[in-house]
Order: sequence, then structure tokens, then C-alpha cells
Amino acid sequence: MKVAVLISGRGSNLQALIDAAEAPYWTPEIVLVLSNVADAQGLERAEKAGIPTAVINHKDFQDRETFDAAMTDAIEASGAELVCLAGFMRLLSTPFIKHWKNRLINIHPSRLPAFKGLDVHQRVLDAGEKITGCTVHFVRPEMDTGPIIIQASVPVHDGDDADTLAARVLEQEHRIYPQAVRMIAEGRVTVGGDQALIDGKILYPNE
Ligand code: GAR
Repeated sequence: MKVAVLISGRGSNLQALIDAAEAPYWTPEIVLVLSNVADAQGLERAEKAGIPTAVINHKDFQDRETFDAAMTDAIEASGAELVCLAGFMRLLSTPFIKHWKNRLINIHPSRLPAFKGLDVHQRVLDAGEKITGCTVHFVRPEMDTGPIIIQASVPVHDGDDADTLAARVLEQEHRIYPQAVRMIAEGRVTVGGDQALIDGKILYPNE
């Protein structure tokens, strides 16, 4: 299965997907890394791994929809069948999300539907949560919603700050994102109604 990864920055989740290719069972192939930021660190990671890269700067477009249409053109030209958002920090337009419906996934650093949006770890700490986590989900037009493919739980420790908590969550992101992509590539993930099914079973009820 050919995969495009969309990034805006550091690209550590992209690196986890690149590194997953070392495993003998790994069949997905990353055919494009697309960034909206020209100096995103993730672009260097892709180049080092010999993966084609492209930069499409949202600032060069008059509106969100024309920017998104340019991304769709680039992704389709790459032959990608699955699009993975990996720290891609632009909101996507509804036409883009509908075009890629059930072929567009995202990783988010909380146990959705809790703590949608930005500044997640500080908000988790401020709320006094004892457990947080991360989620891989199919993307729907409403921000940080959509059928959940896999989640991990992560404890909040006394004395955590947003950085220590983010680092602990990130370790789990790096574990579950390749796992989700692998399951999709193996044809084990379907969507029924607005619920993801793994091997025909609901593992993570959406709400
Ligand atoms: C990750 O923690 C990811 O979950 C988060 O941005 C970080 C990107 O790190 N994504 C979001 O918050 C999306 N709303 P990375 O560039 O090192 O993969």
C-alpha cells in the first residue's frame, strides 16, 4: 500500500513510520512526504531515507481550498492510497477531507474524544487527569473527530510538566501509528457507520 505522510515540523512520527519498514512484516511504502513548511525537520528525515519530498506552502495560496487542492494533486501524482497526517498543523477543508474519506488518518496526542485541539498536555495537567494517551483515527470534517482505529493510555505522573508528559505520550504515538498503518495495509480495518472495525470488531467505541 502506497502512503503519503503530511508534516509541518519535527517529523518524529514520520520517523517511526520510516523505521517500521525495517520489520519483515511491514508492507506499506511511503511514496511522498509533503510539508507545508519549507524547513520542517521531517523533510530531512525523508531525504535521508530516500523518500520523495514536496513542499507546498499554504502562504502561496489565496485560500484553504486551493491549497488543499494542490496537495490532493501532489498526493494523487505520487500514487498514494493512504494519507497520514503526522504533526500536520493546518486545518483541512471539508472538500479535501471528503475526497480522502476513509483514506486519511491522523495521530492526536490525547485519548479522543477528550482534549481535542491544541496545547493538549498542559490542558490535561490543568484538569488534574491521571491518565492520558494518544489516538489514531480516520479524519472527519469536525476537528479531531472520526472513527478511532487505535488508542494507547499513558499515566500522568506527579511532577509532570507539559514537556515530560508529551515525551511519554510520544513514545506511545511512535508505537501505535505504525501499528495502525500496518493494520490498514493488511486490510484489517473497515469503517461501518462512523465506527472503525478491526477484524470486524469494534475495539474503540467512538464516544
Ligand atoms: C505529535 O505529538 C502529534 O500527535 C501532534 O503533533 C506532534 C507532532 O510531532 N499532532 C497534533 O497535535 C495534531 N492536532 P512529530 O512532528 O514529531 O511527529
